[in-house]
Amino acid sequence: MSNALPHIRSITELREQVALWRNEGLTVGLVPTMGALHHGHLSLVEAIASHADKIVVSIFVNPTQFGVGEDLDKYPRQEQADREKLATTPADLLYAPSVDEMYPDGFCSNVTLSANANEPCLTEILEGAERPGHFDGVATVVSKLLLQCLPDVAIFGEKDYQQLAVIRQFVQDLNIPVKIMGGTLIREADGLAASSRNIYLNTQDRKTAAKLNRVLKNLVQAVEGGQNLRAAEAAASAALLEAGFTAVDYVCVADGTTLQPLEKLTAGARVLAVARLAGIRLLDNMAIGAR
Ligand code: PAJ
Repeated sequence: MSNALPHIRSITELREQVALWRNEGLTVGLVPTMGALHHGHLSLVEAIASHADKIVVSIFVNPTQFGVGEDLDKYPRQEQADREKLATTPADLLYAPSVDEMYPDGFCSNVTLSANANEPCLTEILEGAERPGHFDGVATVVSKLLLQCLPDVAIFGEKDYQQLAVIRQFVQDLNIPVKIMGGTLIREADGLAASSRNIYLNTQDRKTAAKLNRVLKNLVQAVEGGQNLRAAEAAASAALLEAGFTAVDYVCVADGTTLQPLEKLTAGARVLAVARLAGIRLLDNMAIGAR
């Protein structure tokens, strides 16, 4: 039989195991995922290893963060293969609860972000505008996972840059006692951001997909060289359509913390983009150096 990481399915078992570790004076790290693990996910396990004695990876395809008509039903589920991949990492335990364990009959509470005095709502711009309700689903399930495990530290990838910003915000607002780490965006050899959804792409689309990264690199170079931000965004959108993407949801040069669009380049700026191909939304983002 192949080597696979041990797994548990209930909140009770998770709490028992974490309590045993705590009794031994060990610290705990959590890596939340939806499975179909690739080297981007595995890099998070490696990155958290130097910050926690024991590592729990969770796999839960969270229905509440998928919108109507999105890919919840066909989202890749391959737990055995995931457990074998995890056995090659420093992970200690897989927590893979059922939908009933996470959302039992009668469940009716949600974590929702709202606008504050200075900024529009972080969950209603960019991805939030394209996927209404998505970040409420993420915030709720991540709150639950954090409260179920009560880790010292949890890590989320910069691949989903806005998700990371949303998580930092509600963890701070709700005083959840956990340190949130960001993990570097991991790419394939041709620059495409690694994603569980890349398997939906056929060979031709897969080639086109790699151009998203190149177009963003060009944008970064142009704005670092002084190009007007709106003009650079428009040029990037046009280049993506020219390259064969079917639509561009957004290309936005934004403040790296608030994610509000910038009028002019400031330190910590970031470009965030989503382009569509073969019905798939491909996300990418990149840091921009100050001028
Ligand atoms: P999922 O898409 O499975 O991603 C799990 C974690 O892996 C997230 O923190 C994501 O940002 C990170 N990740 C994915 N691809 C990456 C890449 N190429 N480089 C670096 N990190 C990458 O994101 C989710 O699941 C869910 O929304 C979740 C947070 C688990 C809540 O349901």
